[in-house]
Amino acid sequence: MHDHGGRIRFFAVVAVAATLLTCACSDLIKVGGKSGWKPNVNYTHWAAHRRFYVGDWLYFVFDKHYYNVLEVKEENYERCDDGDFVKNVTRGGRDVYNLTEARSYYFISSGGYCFHGMKLSVHARGSLPPPLPAPDMKSTENSASLLIGGHRAAVLVVAALSTFILRLL
Ligand SMILES: *[C@@H]1O[C@H](CO)[C@@H](O)[C@H](O)[C@H]1NC(C)=O
Ligand SMILES: *[C@@H]1O[C@H](CO)[C@@H](O)[C@H](O)[C@H]1NC(C)=O
Ligand SMILES: *[C@@H]1O[C@H](CO)[C@@H](O)[C@H](O)[C@H]1NC(C)=O
Repeated sequence: MHDHGGRIRFFAVVAVAATLLTCACSDLIKVGGKSGWKPNVNYTHWAAHRRFYVGDWLYFVFDKHYYNVLEVKEENYERCDDGDFVKNVTRGGRDVYNLTEARSYYFISSGGYCFHGMKLSVHARGSLPPPLPAPDMKSTENSASLLIGGHRAAVLVVAALSTFILRLL
């Protein structure tokens, strides 16, 4: 017979993880972090330190009297060309854009500000990173601490634990 306490703890972890999973699990990502959307911020550098997934929302915060947000094609992004843009994301300066497909997206500000750094390229990933190996009983508590790391970690934990439960039952 297995140790009961361990099993109960184990199911508690699964319950918590399952609860987290019922959230929409899409992140609202403020473009540029504290800086927001303005000139002289390196958005290539900013984006390189983040992961974007389908379902995430980009949140552009900017002064609409000067700047705007246009979704453009890659060539236009490279050249800072605001002609023939794909979509005008600009509304009130607190504007969101949902990443609905697994692909690259390109945004610039017109008015010449693109030449001062207001250009952003992000790649939205469609799937989660490869699952972690299934944990053994001792590592269950380590997995629980992963939950603090966020929803995506929870997804991985649930995936790993489900495999494990099937073996237990
Ligand atoms: C912005 O950051 C990227 C990646 O860190 C770097 O390659 C690039 O040279 C930077 N651009 C400017 C204008 O500093
Ligand atoms: C984008 O939309 C905003 C708000 O509707 C509008 O004020 C602005 O002129 C538009 N910009 C372009 C380039 O179409
Ligand atoms: C995401 O954006 C697309 C295109 O702009 C829109 O049609 C769709 O309704 C949006 N999805 C959500 C969940 O708002």
